[in-house]
Amino acid sequence: EKPGLELTVVSVPSYACQRHTPLLHHNTILTDALSILAENAELSENEGRGVAFRRAAALLKSLPQEVRGAEQLRGLPCLGEHSLRVIKEVLEDGVSHEVETTTHSEQFKAMKALTGIFGVGAKTADRWFREGIHTPSNLQRSGHTLNRAQRAGVCYYDELNLPVTKPEAVAIGQIVERAVHAVLPGAEMTLIGGFRRGKQTGHDVDFLITHPDEGREEGLMPKVVSWLEAQGFLLYQKTTGNSYLESKEGPARPASNMDRFERCFSIFRLSTDNEGREIQTGREIQTGEGPRSWRAVRVDLVVSPYSQFAFALLGWTGSKLFERELRRWAIHEKAMTLSSHALYDRKRYLRASSEEEIFAHLGLEYIPPCDRNA
Ligand code: GTP
Ligand code: MN
Ligand code: MN
Repeated sequence: EKPGLELTVVSVPSYACQRHTPLLHHNTILTDALSILAENAELSENEGRGVAFRRAAALLKSLPQEVRGAEQLRGLPCLGEHSLRVIKEVLEDGVSHEVETTTHSEQFKAMKALTGIFGVGAKTADRWFREGIHTPSNLQRSGHTLNRAQRAGVCYYDELNLPVTKPEAVAIGQIVERAVHAVLPGAEMTLIGGFRRGKQTGHDVDFLITHPDEGREEGLMPKVVSWLEAQGFLLYQKTTGNSYLESKEGPARPASNMDRFERCFSIFRLSTDNEGREIQTGREIQTGEGPRSWRAVRVDLVVSPYSQFAFALLGWTGSKLFERELRRWAIHEKAMTLSSHALYDRKRYLRASSEEEIFAHLGLEYIPPCDRNA
């Protein structure tokens, strides 16, 4: 044993929801490599493999120190044979052959470019790739009929792939807040998703809306959307209604992981100068017609009844892996069912008005949003 190589970790719990995972950690070189393999597995619709790489990466993100040698990993959970092999390679050679091959592969590059179009998933992208379409411009020339989301996705491709900054998220929050208060005074709005976990940039901005008087939130989304549309803030929107059936025993148990809140997937038109009342974001967007004073930003809005707010907040704060681990913990360790609507202990609905209470019901230490970056 080389001295000084032992990590000062006694034991690391195996579920990501049992650990603190900060945004900034000590093993970025390793987690970047594993994330590429995870992404490639997801794009190839190999979900199981993707999750295995994501779990391994999340474990490394939670370690208090930089890993310098594979011997330090002995006894740690979540590291499968394949992930360990990749980690060893990166530790020894600085790069992993498999990661290099992946990032340079035509298929990976094309799949990333095509799924980078809003409204395009792995299945569609794969079908196009097999037809020889590798880029958004190939797609435009192909004459394929695109749906409304995909047309918007192609139209704003570059901007939607430009990270959204914190000031931009704040500026959009002010607009959404104005809309929400205009159509329903007393309604409350919370920033969720990556920005709530402390990220400084994101691929979109996510908001959760509710009202303390249960029932007042019903039908809220179409009103908010109409207000935003009338003011010219929306370049695209698709609203889906609340399809959640409630009974006296509490919200219906989830049929799947999909939740059924009223929600809106949108593309915002955000001013980037001081003309509007929005915060100056100091960015100029270059288009074919020259610079312009606004940019397109993906925004997700979710409306939840007040009694389900804590579950919605927990379910939409992420990260995606942290959420998955929470549900896995609930089922396998507690025989409970957790969704963004409710927590059930077999048939019994467990109430909660805060995230802290949900962690307590689950027998978990409370993990604050900034430590859910698994
Ligand atoms: P960036 O947007 O890339 O910065 O990261 P993010 O963590 O904000 O990701 P995203 O906006 O995709 O999702 C935010 C959270 O909402 C994640 O925890 C997701 O699990 C959750 N989420 C996204 N879509 C759905 C959905 O359809 N149903 C449910 N229940 N949760 C969702
Ligand atoms: Mn997000
Ligand atoms: Mn989102």
